[in-house]
Amino acid sequence: MENLQLRSFAEYKKAYKKSLKDPEGFWEEIANTFTWQQKWDKTLEWDFEKPEVKWFQGGKLNITENCLDRHLEKLGNKTAIIWEPNDPDEESRYISYRQLFVKVSRFANVLKNNGIGKGDRVCLYMPMIPELAIAMLACARIGAVHSIVFAGFSSSAIARRINDSECKMLITANEVYRGAKKVNLKEICDKALEETPSIETVIVYRRTVEPTAMKDGRDKFWFDELQKAEKDCPAEVMDAEDLLFILYTSGSTGKPKGMVHTTGGYLVGTTYTFQNVFQLEKDDVYWCTADIGWITGHSYIIYGPLASGATTVMFEGIPSYPDYGRFWEICEKLKVTHFYTAPTAIRSLAKQPLKFVEDHDLSSLKVLGSVGEPINEEAWHWYNDNIGKGNCPVVDTWWQTETGGIMISPLAGITPTRPTFATLPLPGVQPVLMDEQGEEIPNTNEPAEGRLAIKFPWPSIARTIYGDHERYKEVYYSTFKNKYFTGDGAYRDASGNYRITGRVDDIVIVSGHNLGTAAIENAIDEHESVVESAVVGYPHEVKGNALYAYVILYNDIEPSEELIKEIKAIVSETVGPIAKPEKIQFVSGLPKTRSGKIMRRILRKIASNDTADLGDTSTLLNPEIVDEIMAEAKH
Ligand code: PRX
Repeated sequence: MENLQLRSFAEYKKAYKKSLKDPEGFWEEIANTFTWQQKWDKTLEWDFEKPEVKWFQGGKLNITENCLDRHLEKLGNKTAIIWEPNDPDEESRYISYRQLFVKVSRFANVLKNNGIGKGDRVCLYMPMIPELAIAMLACARIGAVHSIVFAGFSSSAIARRINDSECKMLITANEVYRGAKKVNLKEICDKALEETPSIETVIVYRRTVEPTAMKDGRDKFWFDELQKAEKDCPAEVMDAEDLLFILYTSGSTGKPKGMVHTTGGYLVGTTYTFQNVFQLEKDDVYWCTADIGWITGHSYIIYGPLASGATTVMFEGIPSYPDYGRFWEICEKLKVTHFYTAPTAIRSLAKQPLKFVEDHDLSSLKVLGSVGEPINEEAWHWYNDNIGKGNCPVVDTWWQTETGGIMISPLAGITPTRPTFATLPLPGVQPVLMDEQGEEIPNTNEPAEGRLAIKFPWPSIARTIYGDHERYKEVYYSTFKNKYFTGDGAYRDASGNYRITGRVDDIVIVSGHNLGTAAIENAIDEHESVVESAVVGYPHEVKGNALYAYVILYNDIEPSEELIKEIKAIVSETVGPIAKPEKIQFVSGLPKTRSGKIMRRILRKIASNDTADLGDTSTLLNPEIVDEIMAEAKH
C-alpha cells in the first residue's frame, strides 16, 4: 500500500494545479495505488446535464480487499479498530486487521446463508459497536448494498427507509447503552417491521443479556448464525460503478433522499482525502466521534481509515457520561493523536468547567478536526487553545453526504489555517461561488460571497438518489447550468479561502444533524388539532441552529402546554427526537405570498429575534399577520 500524502504546501499547490490541468491523469495515478482485480478501461465519463458521472469504468475490485486483505501481510497484527464502550468500567476491545478480516469473512457467510447476494439491500440499525463495522464490511464483501439508519431514528423513519430501497434484511441489536440510559432497539425495529414487507430476515446482536422477543422464522441471533457459518469468504468481484451503499439524508421535501455511493470512486476519494487532511503517521491513533449512521462515520471511521491501514477508534457512548470529561479521558487512555468531532460537541463541552479538560493528559494529540456545521470563532479558539494547547492544527472540513468525502479543508500542518474557514479545496475539487443571477463570481483577489457549487466531478460524488434520478437532477443540477449545487452559501477571502456560511435552502443543521423542515412540518400537520405549520431554524448557542415551529390550530382548539408536548412527541416519533422543535408558537396565520408560498425569510428573522429589517413584505397577501406573530414570538 502506497502512502498518498502530500508533504508540504508547495506539494499541495502542485497537486492542485495538476488536478485542474489533467483531472483524469491526476486521479488515475492515485487509483493505481489500490488493489484492483482488473484495471479500468475508462477513467471518467461525465455529464452534469443528464446528470451522469462514472469513474474507473470496467475496473473490478472489492473495497474490503482494499480495507482488509491487502493489509494482512504487513499490518495483520496492527489494531484496526479500538472500541471504547459506553461504560468506562467495561473493557475496551482491540481488533487487529487479521481479526477483523476473519470476523468480516465469517459474517459475510451469515449473510449468504440467509439468502443475501450481490445487489441486495441490507438495512443496518445498530449501536456503535464493532459488529456494526463488521456487518457493513460483510455486506461489501459479498456485494450487498448497506443502508445504515442512525440508531436514534424512530420506527416510522426506519420503515420509510427500508421500504424506499426494499431492503431484504435488517440487522440490529437488542439494546443499546447511551449514557445512563438503555434503549431497546429491537422493540423500535419490531414496530417498523409491521410495515416493511420486503424484510425476510432480522439478525439480532445481543448487546445486553436482557431477554429479547424474537419472531419465529424471521428473527435470528447473530451468534447462532455465526456458529453455522464457514470461515472463508472470497470477495465478490464488483464493478467500480456497482453500488456500495445507500445513505439517507434530509431533503427539501418531506421524503429522505437515498444517496447512492459506488465502489471504486468512493474508495479512492475517501482514502485520498483521509490521508491528506489528517496526515497520519505510522502508529497514530485516530478517533472520529461521529456515529457510523452518518456519512462522516462511513467515510472517516470505516472506509478511509481502514483502506489506509490506520487504527480507528469507535466510541459507543456520549460526551457527557459518566461526566463531561469523557472525551478527554478517552484521548488520554488510548493516546489519541487525531481527534475529529463536531462544533456542537465542542460548544457543549466548552460550557463545562475547564477542570474536565485539565484533569487529563492530552499531550498525545497532534491534529484536531471539525465537521458537520460552521464552527464559530469562539468554539474554534476554545478547541485550539484548550484541547490542542495551540500545538495542533485545526482542520475544519467541509463536505456533505452527497460528496462522499471531504472537499474543502486545510491539510493538517500544511495549509495555513484561519478560524472559521474551511480554507482551500482539496486537489481534484473545483468549487465556484455563484451570484444571485446564477453567474460564476471569478476567483480573483477580491473577497466575495455567494452560493457554493462545484464545476467538475470528483470520484466520491453520489451518483444518484436511489430510485429517483429525476429528483437527483432537480435538487443538485437544475439551479446552475452544468454545475453541482451544494445548497450552501459561502464567503471567499482575497486569498481564495472559503468559509461556509450555512444552508441556503430548507435544510437546517441542528447539532450537526441535517434536518429537512418539510419532513418536520408534515409530522406536525399530522396532529389532529393542527391546520398548518412552518418550521424554520434560528441560531442557538450550543446546537448551532435550533428549530422554531409556527403552528396554526383549528378554530375551536385552545393552545396549551399539553398540545406543545403532543406536537413534540409526534415529531419525535415520526422523524426522530433530534428533530423536536425547541420552540413552538401558535399563530392564527402564516405570512404568505400571493401565490400561496410561506415567506420563510420573515419567519426566520422573527425566530432569530432579528426584526429590525424584515426586508420587502410588499408581496405578502396578509402583511398584518407579521405584527401579530412578532408580538407573541418566543425569545
Ligand atoms: O451545510 C453544510 C454542513 O453540513 C451539510 C452537509 O450535511 P451532511 O450531509 O449531514 O454531512 C455532514 C458531514 C459531512 C453541508 O451542506 N457542513 C458540513 N461540514 C461543514 C458544514 N458547514 C460548515 N463547515 C463545515 N466544516
